[in-house]
Amino acid sequence: MAYRVHLMEPAASFEVDEGETLLEGADRAGQHLPHDCRFGTCGTCRVRVASGSVGYQEFPPGISEEEAAAGFALACQAHALSDVTLLPERRLAPCSAPARHMATVSAVRALGDGVSHLTITLPEAAAADLVYRPGQYVNLFLEDGSPRSFSMASRPEGGQLDFHLRRIPEGRFTHHRVNALQAGDLLEIELPLGNFCHHPEDYRPLLLVATGTGLAPIKAILESLMDSEDGPPVALYWGVRTEADLYLHEEIQTWAERFDDFSYVPVLSRADEDWQGRRGHVQQAVAEDFPDLSEHAIYLCGSPAMIEEARRDFLALGASIDHLYADSFTFQA
Ligand code: FES
Repeated sequence: MAYRVHLMEPAASFEVDEGETLLEGADRAGQHLPHDCRFGTCGTCRVRVASGSVGYQEFPPGISEEEAAAGFALACQAHALSDVTLLPERRLAPCSAPARHMATVSAVRALGDGVSHLTITLPEAAAADLVYRPGQYVNLFLEDGSPRSFSMASRPEGGQLDFHLRRIPEGRFTHHRVNALQAGDLLEIELPLGNFCHHPEDYRPLLLVATGTGLAPIKAILESLMDSEDGPPVALYWGVRTEADLYLHEEIQTWAERFDDFSYVPVLSRADEDWQGRRGHVQQAVAEDFPDLSEHAIYLCGSPAMIEEARRDFLALGASIDHLYADSFTFQA
């Protein structure tokens, strides 16, 4: 049995067959729904179900039961159970349509243990037209054309883009390709991509929670807010395993000078005994420090496990689904 799916922004409609996901139906009809992983983990394909109902063969990790009950769905996993009307998850500031460019490597350097800092420069004409939202990501392409996704770690300004790349031993890009890169090399990239970004209209105290290189898009968001006269209070929690993984620790401490009200809490899950700071999982540290999260705009970026737990625990502490933004990622070989 087929059902009709109505998209409200942009207005369009298409049919989905039984057993087909909303995203598969949209693909077949030539309609673009934002998406990334297609596995139900990243959350990029979240939509609001304005009318009708949807279900899942297996409930996906990228959405909580509370969010589903509040009318959110993951289009890459959800099946229509009736005719449905879908709204974009949120209204977003405009940005450029995704496009491919040949960018030039400006610098590659090690950033602490196991992380590389890559800077690339876009061609002038592409940079002049590019508008992206802090928090978005790019695809960098391997020689065989397969993409690897990385969030930009710098504010949208000019044609230089920074990335924090976790070097994984089997990583075709983050290890083999990055080790061989030199200034002047060309890289094919596609940008801007993704719905995770800063929502300036959601003016509330900011709580930013990252694990590992999930710091990158959080840094881009914070850089876009630095030195503003009426910025909100900012609390940044960064969870890593060991002190050696705090690859931007000194720089982050200088950010306090760029905000009226900024706090930074690094949290180590495998600290050695000399560590004087917080221990455990970063989401637990947040929950200990904020018994009431009802007034915050919350941005989460990092491992699926952190995002899943943080969503569940923070909603229980009063956080609002309408003010909670998440970007979950896994490392690709
Ligand atoms: Fe649906 Fe990633 S594309 S959760």
